[in-house]
Formats: sequence, C-alpha cells, structure tokens
Amino acid sequence: MHCMKHTLSIATLLATFSLGTVASEQETRHLIGLGALTFADNCMKCHKIDGYGEEALYPSLRDPGLLANKPLLIDTVLHGRSAPRRNGGEEDLMPALEFLTDREISAIIAFITNTWGDEVLLVSEEEIKAAR
Ligand code: HEC
Repeated sequence: MHCMKHTLSIATLLATFSLGTVASEQETRHLIGLGALTFADNCMKCHKIDGYGEEALYPSLRDPGLLANKPLLIDTVLHGRSAPRRNGGEEDLMPALEFLTDREISAIIAFITNTWGDEVLLVSEEEIKAAR
C-alpha cells in the first residue's frame, strides 16, 4: 500500500514536470506573438521591420549562424555592446535592454529565430534570469 502511493506520486511529479517544461504548440505561438510586439517596440527602429537593419549602421539579424547562437542572443539583448563589433564604430551602439522582462526577452528570441532563423529557439525564463 505504502509502495503504491509512492509510485503514484512519482508519476504525478513526472507529469507535472513535463507539462511545465515542454512548451505546447499553442504556448509557442503565443510567445512568438508577444515577441513580434516586443520586437516592434524595442528593436525595430534600428534593425527594421524586415530584420535587415540598415547598411553601415545597424547589422542584419537575418543570419542563421547568429540566430542559432543562444548565448550571444541573450547576452546582446541584456547587456548591449560596449564596443562595436560589426560596423566600425560609426553607429549607435547596441543598447542594453535589461529592463525587458525575462518573458519578453524569451519572446523576442522566439520571434526572431522563428521568423528569420532555421528553427525557433525556445529559451526559458530561468536561463535569461541566470544571464542577468
Ligand atoms: C539604438 C539601436 C538599436 C536597438 C534599439 C537595438 N539594436 Fe541590436 N544592434 C544595434 C547595433 C548598432 C548593433 C551592432 C553592435 C556592434 O557593432 O557590435 C546591434 C547588434 C545586435 C545583435 C548582434 C548582431 C551580431 O551579428 O553580432 C543582435 C542579435 C541584436 N542587435 C538584436 C537586437 C534586438 C533583439 C533588439 C531589441 C530587443 C535590438 N537589437 C535593439 C542597434 C540596436
């Protein structure tokens, strides 16, 4: 009897765990939608609506290698860039956008990778919190 109860609670725990970590298709669509809005408010003025940016000013985000590089994406959005890497220093630097919430940053990354990358990158809010 005791043993049975134990087995059941492990099963419940496993079910809760997988529900909590594996995003459903609908959750992913919601996240991408939020990401589109958050991108429009915070990124579009420089990187433009099509993600191509502006020659010699703002780099294009439409680069599959860049869009597969999770640590670089998180770090760039959270901390911006203190020195120019791409465009020779004639432009505004990438600003730090650490005022965005973990969920908003996760959503932006889901949106840009889904729209312009090879596959959607789902970054947990915990991973973003840890990089702050
Ligand atoms: C004020 C203009 C501006 C805004 C707003 C802005 N960026 Fe940037 N971003 C830049 C510039 C300039 C660079 C290039 C920095 C450098 O020279 O390394 C850059 C670089 C990047 C890079 C790295 C590109 C690479 O190849 O290394 C990513 C990714 C990026 N931005 C994403 C975003 C996202 C996502 C947002 C919105 C959350 C955003 N940026 C908002 C100006 C901006």
